[in-house]
Amino acid sequence: MNLKEKIRVIPDFPEPGIRFKDITTLLKDGEAFKYAIDRMANFANERNADLIAGPEARGFVLAAPLAYSMGLGFVPIRKSGKLPGETVSVSYELEYGKDKLEIHRDAIQPGQRVIIADDLLATGGTIASTIKLVEELGGVVAGLAFMIELTYLPGREKLKDYDVLSLVQY
Ligand code: PRP
Repeated sequence: MNLKEKIRVIPDFPEPGIRFKDITTLLKDGEAFKYAIDRMANFANERNADLIAGPEARGFVLAAPLAYSMGLGFVPIRKSGKLPGETVSVSYELEYGKDKLEIHRDAIQPGQRVIIADDLLATGGTIASTIKLVEELGGVVAGLAFMIELTYLPGREKLKDYDVLSLVQY
């Protein structure tokens, strides 16, 4: 299965010069979607995952079916102000300004092995923040699974202490 040919590249979105990697064309292809989740499940299985976490919004689209397919729980990482219970939060840099990511304080038990899934590894900022949240709760980050990795950005370097899977590289 060639996943790359299922991904549509849209020039100049959301701004001139950016070539946006659109995974909606892959997601609507049932066979490709299943193949991608199954590969992530193999990776997570080999690392004895107890839980799957993912950042909103596009991370949910992969992390939730990954958790379901493995019979594991799913933990949402959300932008600020969305989670109703007691949270732990971390600020992260955006291109313009700052935002916050949050996790429920009781979402992970110390020692649980967590696989984090997201659609895209670009600068690695989102995942670095997600890792901080998981580790602050005592979770062990057992691996990071991405649909796409932009290898011309320093994401992997930033995550060099972790086990990274990416299914498609640009
Ligand atoms: C995108 C993408 C990743 C992140 C990757 O999310 O889904 O989570 O950016 O970039 P980074 O490696 O430089 O952090 P975005 O913040 O656009 O949110 P969305 O999923 O809600 O569209």
